[in-house]
Amino acid sequence: MIPTLEWTSAGVRFLDQTRLPLEESYVLATTYGQVADVITTMVVRGAPAIGVSAAMGVALGVQKSHAATLAELSAELDVICKTLAATRPTAVNLFWAIDRMRRRYLSLAAEPGIGIDAIRAALVQEARTMYDEDIAACRTMGQNGASLMPQSGGVLTHCNAGALASCGYGMALGVIRAAVENGHALHVYADETRPFLQGARLTAWELMHDGIPTTVLCDNMAASLMRQGKIKAVIVGADRVAANGDVANKIGTYGVAILAKEHGLPFYVACPWSTIDLATATGDSIPIEQRSPKEVTHHAGKQLTPDGVGVENPAFDVTPARYVTAIITERGVFRPPYALNGR
Ligand code: MRU
Repeated sequence: MIPTLEWTSAGVRFLDQTRLPLEESYVLATTYGQVADVITTMVVRGAPAIGVSAAMGVALGVQKSHAATLAELSAELDVICKTLAATRPTAVNLFWAIDRMRRRYLSLAAEPGIGIDAIRAALVQEARTMYDEDIAACRTMGQNGASLMPQSGGVLTHCNAGALASCGYGMALGVIRAAVENGHALHVYADETRPFLQGARLTAWELMHDGIPTTVLCDNMAASLMRQGKIKAVIVGADRVAANGDVANKIGTYGVAILAKEHGLPFYVACPWSTIDLATATGDSIPIEQRSPKEVTHHAGKQLTPDGVGVENPAFDVTPARYVTAIITERGVFRPPYALNGR
């Protein structure tokens, strides 16, 4: 299995996704601050992977803390959680994971006579449990969604919602993997995903690693391929799904959804339940990360655009629920109308 991230006795080990596909190298984070840096710089990325990384960052911070009392530890935990929460704003899994670690801490701290070492050990265990649960959720999602994939032919995906975006197996790519395991003869079309190229670099690397036939296309080629009949379905991941079913995902997803509708193709979203944000009513309230203009103006250190030109670089967009054929989760497959509250 692709080792996206891993808890080790020396710290948290991350496959450096900024160096793929040319180099498989690892970064070891030994402090929570380093985990925050690894998330901000996108050494690790993808909503579920970011969530579990943050949980491991909390565990690492508490493990390394010199606090002598629970009051000191609680104050340190606040700083740790704030630092990790400030890394990336859109993927709700980040906040979900930090909140789960904080709630676990609070329930442990309320146990009479508990010592700081016992809390340290329990928080490491909680983060490792979240890692295992993430892989299990991906596998269940895969089985839940596999039959929605065509028996054969092309499936388009955008960005990377695979093993690299999770602790293993993946969401959109997990559904594709499960379908292939069940005998579907799929060919994956991977949008390159400007400007960070998660599709060209990561999805293509991950699928070729597993021997799944893959073709990379520039983002502006999808419409033409759909018109030629090469695409039978679209499947993507999500960074946050609002209670009404609006989906925030990598910039460009909204355009792909509109194209799918125009060509009569199903548009599926695969994500774990931790990506569903019931506290956010619609996609209009989802915060969208703005990234450095340099990702657009430069490529591989080379300037592409004239000095001083204006640049837009929102990292995500929102696809209204009306374009989404179904949302595939480990809790089942949901179809419109998406009243996700109370599910
Ligand atoms: O900026 P990234 O690479 O972290 O964005 C990742 C995505 O948009 C993925 O599609 C998303 O996290 C899906 S994984 C359920």
